[in-house]
Amino acid sequence: MANTILVGAQWGDEGKGKIIDFLTERADIVVRSQGGNNAGHTVIVDGVKYVLHLIPSGILRKGIMCVIGNGVVIDAVSLAGEIVGLRKQGIVVTPKNLMISDCAHLTLPFHRALDKAKETAKGKGKIGTTGRGIGPTYADKVSRVGMRTGELLQPVRFAEKLKARLDEANVVLKAMKAAPLDVKAAREEYLEAAKIIAPFLANTVVYLAEQVKAKKQMLFEGAQGTFLDIDFGTYPYVTSSNTTSGGACTGSGVPPNRISKVVGTMKAYTTRVGEGPFPTEDKGISDFLHGLGREFGATTGRARRCGWFDAVFTRYAAMVNGIDELAITNTDGLDTMDTIKVCVAYKLGRAKLEYPPSDIDALSKCVPIYQEFPGWKKDTTGARKWNDLPPKCRAYLQAISKLTGAKLAIASVGPGREQTILL
Ligand code: GDP
Ligand code: IMO
Ligand code: MG
Repeated sequence: MANTILVGAQWGDEGKGKIIDFLTERADIVVRSQGGNNAGHTVIVDGVKYVLHLIPSGILRKGIMCVIGNGVVIDAVSLAGEIVGLRKQGIVVTPKNLMISDCAHLTLPFHRALDKAKETAKGKGKIGTTGRGIGPTYADKVSRVGMRTGELLQPVRFAEKLKARLDEANVVLKAMKAAPLDVKAAREEYLEAAKIIAPFLANTVVYLAEQVKAKKQMLFEGAQGTFLDIDFGTYPYVTSSNTTSGGACTGSGVPPNRISKVVGTMKAYTTRVGEGPFPTEDKGISDFLHGLGREFGATTGRARRCGWFDAVFTRYAAMVNGIDELAITNTDGLDTMDTIKVCVAYKLGRAKLEYPPSDIDALSKCVPIYQEFPGWKKDTTGARKWNDLPPKCRAYLQAISKLTGAKLAIASVGPGREQTILL
């Protein structure tokens, strides 16, 4: 397998964790390069469920090196908890299979508090963030006032700086009428977690460059999705990092000319968590999927908004990420539908649009033009080969791949590792 970037081609939760786990069988290294613990990647192996937030999903397979790159924002308390939680589930996590960049930015306790206070202040206009402090952490990074993982190696200096930043943040929190943080408790909790993280820190840029030279196979695990990208997403209803394929290079230090393939993951329908326009949103399909116990967030437990497959967006995702191959997940979610709708273009006034408009107000006014497909009305969860799928299901998957403009490579028919069909 060539060095491959896997991105989400919709609004996140496309099943990236599951597909990464599947592809890891042929990889040596799995790298996370952006986002933070706003991500929630679910992998089910032999009936056991694992939810990864900061640690690459590759950790579930033996002999794989997992790297958290410089572009990721790390809440040390959350990461320490994730390491301990995985160990409790019997997964080995040591510096032999996990490396953390020494220049990734830290999500500090006040980032989380500020995230929540800002959302409260926005009221109805809120973004609907995960409340994990992601926006404030990236804001500090680009404002050049952030703190980085490498600083954890000098605990005394780190504690002094953290106290100063906490004091500053408390002034802002008070002004926003939010509860200030107890400086001592926040500092102690963070320093305790820092002790767990410290042994994993390394210059991951040099490590990855050596692995490229040694022809090791890398898999870059995208977090969030294309339309949550800070540049290409439905701004301002986005996250604060580049979730598209370019982010994998800047967030890891692996240069673009060492990447050979981009795989886009998308659901056979569409979901979105949080606020923001969603042209194909449909209450009927939302109620239907929630009724099946599906589509509740892996990080916050919020019910995901659901809608029909939107080829206008995935077409743009294929373009901006350079998607070579597609992995379509949650095919089985449509198993019982009589008719399945797919948005092939938008109507905006008298114009017909093939790509989403950049302006959020214009996007809110777009009316989907649908094409209807007959449902296959058969259980697909037991399918293991392409030809096991009902002909109408194959036709649907090929149609949405064609509308997106990339080759179908993987079809997923259930959350389990084995419920994956390689074309
Ligand atoms: P990620 O954030 O992109 O890794 O996706 P999440 O894990 O947040 O959400 C995807 C959900 O779909 C998880 O509950 C997965 O277990 C589940 N999933 C992935 N692929 C399939 C599939 O083909 N069928 C079904 N039924 N569930 C799937
Ligand atoms: P994975 O990796 C789905 C959404 C939030 C909100 C917006 C901004 O599991 O696909 P943030 O906390 O990042 O500032 O929130 O982005 N969001 C996600 N939605 N999946 C995710 O990650 C998400 N990470 C952030 O719901 O709308
Ligand atoms: Mg998720």
